[in-house]
Amino acid sequence: MSDILKNKVVIVTGASSGIGRAIAIRAAEHGAKAVIVADITEAPREGGRPTVEEIEAIGSAARFVKTDVSKRADNDALVEASAEFGGVDVMVANAGITLRTDGADVPEDDYHRLLSINLDGPLFGAQAAARQMKANGKGGSIVLMASMGGISGAGITVAYSTSKGGVVLMAKSLADALGPDGIRVNAVAPGTIDTELLRTSPGIAEASEGFRKRTPLRRLGQPSEVGDAVAYLGSDLSSYVSGIALLVDGGLLAVL
Ligand SMILES: NC(=O)c1ccc[n+]([C@@H]2O[C@H](COP(=O)([O-])OP(=O)(O)OC[C@H]3O[C@@H](n4cnc5c(N)ncnc54)[C@H](O)[C@@H]3O)[C@@H](O)[C@H]2O)c1
Repeated sequence: MSDILKNKVVIVTGASSGIGRAIAIRAAEHGAKAVIVADITEAPREGGRPTVEEIEAIGSAARFVKTDVSKRADNDALVEASAEFGGVDVMVANAGITLRTDGADVPEDDYHRLLSINLDGPLFGAQAAARQMKANGKGGSIVLMASMGGISGAGITVAYSTSKGGVVLMAKSLADALGPDGIRVNAVAPGTIDTELLRTSPGIAEASEGFRKRTPLRRLGQPSEVGDAVAYLGSDLSSYVSGIALLVDGGLLAVL
């Protein structure tokens, strides 16, 4: 498809399913040398072949590393697994969840569980990657998965939007902290993307048809379209881009 990620070693968390799976496969299609697939399970939620098999069929090296992103030690071990290929160039902290219980009365335990995956996860992943990138002295690109729900709020996603808004500011703050070491940090903010998460999240699933109708492009996004945006941010094509939240939403947040 292209060679914009040629010679790059890419790590993607939450890469067994949905958007993460598409980011990992697209990275291989854009020429990545190796793609490390991190998730709590190897089985795609939507079924089909595990992501590593798809990537190897494209021609890149691939590894699956069982990872719970809410655990700092798992993130450290994940990044260490990239040493086999010379270390990580592009760290994509994509794993995230929604809650069945979200809203103004979100229960405390669910709220903390969501924050541990959606907010602690990206921080621990970015910290582990940055440490290795600095040690290797070659800089890199860190991409954090936010959401349009982290830019505009919604009553049905109080906890989710809180976490994703945090991710947007985390990207800006880390961009400042890590820029002097040649490490760029950006967020990607997808709109309504056709994945199992969208189809199975109560509230969000019902709202998605209204979002589709209001989206200037009048359709849901495909996971691969987020994959291409991440490939751009991971590649040298975006060498002077840092600290942004790139909306991939078909124009939805541009209109009233
Ligand atoms: N689908 C959308 O419309 C949409 C929109 C905006 C943002 N997002 C964000 O995109 C990311 C991916 O969402 P998706 O739609 O592909 O969801 P998905 O449910 O299809 O895939 C999420 C993957 O993350 C994994 N995961 C969950 N908890 C984990 C943990 N603790 N450690 C490691 N992996 C874990 C799951 O096993 C799954 O494979 C999420 O951060 C989500 O918030 C999705």
